[in-house]
Amino acid sequence: MNQYKIALLAGDGIGPEIMREAVKVLKAIEARHRDVQFELQPALFGAAAYFETGKAFPQETMQICDAADAILKGTIGLSHEESQKIPVDEQPERGALLPMRRRYNTFANFRPVYLPKELAFFSPLKEDIIGDGIDFMIIRELVGGLYFGEKVTGINEQGKRYVKETLEYNEDQIKAIVTVAFETAQSRKKVLHNIHKSNVLKSSVLWNEVVSEVAVDYPDVEVKHILVDAAATYLCLNPGQFDVMVMENMFGDILSDEGGGILGSLGLMPSACVGPEKSYYEPSHGSAPDIAGQNIANPYSMIGSVAMMLDMSFGMKKEAHNLWQAMRAVFAAGYCTPDLAKGKNVKLIKTDEFGDMVVAELNKMPVT
Ligand code: NAD
Ligand code: IPM
Ligand code: MN
Repeated sequence: MNQYKIALLAGDGIGPEIMREAVKVLKAIEARHRDVQFELQPALFGAAAYFETGKAFPQETMQICDAADAILKGTIGLSHEESQKIPVDEQPERGALLPMRRRYNTFANFRPVYLPKELAFFSPLKEDIIGDGIDFMIIRELVGGLYFGEKVTGINEQGKRYVKETLEYNEDQIKAIVTVAFETAQSRKKVLHNIHKSNVLKSSVLWNEVVSEVAVDYPDVEVKHILVDAAATYLCLNPGQFDVMVMENMFGDILSDEGGGILGSLGLMPSACVGPEKSYYEPSHGSAPDIAGQNIANPYSMIGSVAMMLDMSFGMKKEAHNLWQAMRAVFAAGYCTPDLAKGKNVKLIKTDEFGDMVVAELNKMPVT
């Protein structure tokens, strides 16, 4: 019997709604496999945790996560107005999400940007730009850079309010993420786009040096260097040129949301946050306060994160593949949530209906 302990951190906003669908899918998968058992352990995380316990990442949640084989996270965060009710350092981003990334050193963030040709109509890009579909992997460094560098706030010598944030990397941190990127590129099309800003940032100069050093061990991978600002344009004008892209933390935050934009919705953006000992899985997007509580969020990003967990943490590659296929079958039959529907000839479904349909599609597939 393969038993997997999964910490479930539903979080805020649409988090609980899309997490319900993830749980539905996990239960369906368990029912399909006599030799697999998921032990699901819900825990408080984010603003919900703060309001209940005074901490956005409570001790009890840490213990549940420490003991888990993998962590499945929904979304955290409040609207701009609501978040003002929480002290800055306990706001769920600084008080829960970043501490979790640091605690488990989840340095490698995989954000697949994928839309097969038959679903290209979801994308705002023109058909001739999309060509055979969109398929690339953003690999984002997740525990360094501006997010985790030294921060100073106060009053400067001129008596003005002042802030300093620092973008820090050491060569080992860069080597670790770049190595992951080369490995990934080697397993795909053997092309790696290194995204940087070495015309301005010294951190990018060091980053690029390390890329060149690691490249020696991967002679079969072609490396292309692209400045981050230009990369933002190429993502709209010619996304087909990309296969694996690697970049520092902040660049990856921004370009991966652009990835969601070219697919047609952030609801199509799952992710894996991989550490040396523990990994966690989450949608790339936020808590979508504008649509929370209406049962209309797109759970693809959350269920896709489940698929990534099955594949990367539990070695259930076949079932992960089935799950992707099941979700695409729902779309291919003409169903989708409102984020993808705009102006298209599709049949609107709710968050929970998408989950039900995914389970139904999954159950049509043989268990191997
Ligand atoms: P957002 O990603 O929550 O929403 C941006 C837009 O995308 C909104 O219009 C939203 O409705 C839409 N959207 C996002 N996910 C969707 C889904 N699954 N289905 C349908 N539509 C979807 O970004 P925001 O509004 O800038 O941020 C809201 C909060 O989320 C903030 O507090 C932010 O800090 C937080 N946040 C959390 C995470 C995380 O938990 N990892 C990630 C990003 C932002
Ligand atoms: C993401 C989010 C987070 C980030 C925020 C909520 C801290 O935007 O996961 O992309 O910036 O990393
Ligand atoms: Mn982001």
